[in-house]
Amino acid sequence: MGQVSPTIGAKLWQELHYHDDGVMDKGGESCGIIGKMGTGKSTIMLQLAQLSRYIPDGSKKRMVAQVMFGEKDIREFNTHPETVVWRGRVNDYWNCLIPKNWDKSFPNALFQSKPLTLWVHEDDELTFFHADYDGEPKRVPNLPQVNTYYNADDLIHKIVEGNINVVYEPQTYIIDKSLIKKIKARTLDPEGTTSDKSPRKAFQDACPPVFWFELIGKMIINKPIPYLTLMIDEFHQIAVARAEKQMWKLIDIFASNFVDLRRNNMTVIFATHQTTFIDWRIYDRLAKWIWLPGAYPSNKLSMVFPTVIARQKLGTAIIEERLSEFGGFKFSRIPRQPPLLRVDGMLE
Ligand SMILES: Nc1ncnc2c1ncn2[C@@H]1O[C@H](COP(=O)(O)OP(=O)(O)O)[C@@H](O)[C@H]1O
Ligand SMILES: [Mg+2]
Repeated sequence: MGQVSPTIGAKLWQELHYHDDGVMDKGGESCGIIGKMGTGKSTIMLQLAQLSRYIPDGSKKRMVAQVMFGEKDIREFNTHPETVVWRGRVNDYWNCLIPKNWDKSFPNALFQSKPLTLWVHEDDELTFFHADYDGEPKRVPNLPQVNTYYNADDLIHKIVEGNINVVYEPQTYIIDKSLIKKIKARTLDPEGTTSDKSPRKAFQDACPPVFWFELIGKMIINKPIPYLTLMIDEFHQIAVARAEKQMWKLIDIFASNFVDLRRNNMTVIFATHQTTFIDWRIYDRLAKWIWLPGAYPSNKLSMVFPTVIARQKLGTAIIEERLSEFGGFKFSRIPRQPPLLRVDGMLE
């Protein structure tokens, strides 16, 4: 246990909050948060969403070192709130991130909270409510207005810089032509003569999460915003392990995009219960991991003993820079957290 250094842990955890230019230093981050239910995955993601910032003209490693040694205050550096795209789900906690709620939870925060913008596809009618103990839906206080988009390109134009953009994927998603082209390029039989369905047909009644593959691919090409973090909780819903056929190819495209994300100063943070729940082509390309109780990484992915991970208590985590170093850090719950947010009108 002695090997889990709190100093390295605090450093890596701080470094995950800040993003610098890939030319000067590291560029975007990619981090998977793994742990069983109730170990703080969502809590960590919520905190990162509000606190992440970018430093356009320096090295975050140097900045974090100076702050940790008490040489300088973080507010003395030229940092800006990083834009976040948060994938909205049927049961979610992003209501914590609404500035009025966040400010109640953290009244002494060092930086102003990021505004929250809510995005829903124009054909969808989603309603948001608080689940109550008696089962009665309750109004969500401070709920922001709903904004609409009509496709991935439109959304990319509309994403608000510096805000947390909560995005609900279209509930009836038709796969985009650009993705079909890419799938065909990965097919030995591009005309589809031996398969029973063309890609568009195969996805016709498909899988709204595929929208994220398109969105991410297009964000890399269009670079709407200089620094952006993408946050996807329950990530196995997107990049499921043991996918078949066209989905397998889509994940291949997505996985090769991972390298480009980093170069383009885009960060991906996701959470799931076990590394084996997600496709290996993705987890093989991640730079950082956060291990919470119940995580059981293979020794190809992690240098930490699984028993060390398992013995952690709620509020502690091990953070690991792949094949480099790891350490432990502590995190707190979100005080005065509002109730679970539920959404009506989504396909489940
Ligand atoms: N550091 C902590 N100390 C105490 N309670 C915590 C801590 N982190 C999270 N919690 C609480 O534990 C519960 C589960 O946290 P959550 O982040 O939703 O876990 P997960 O996403 O892994 O299921 C929530 O009620 C949360 O407020
Ligand atoms: Mg969760």
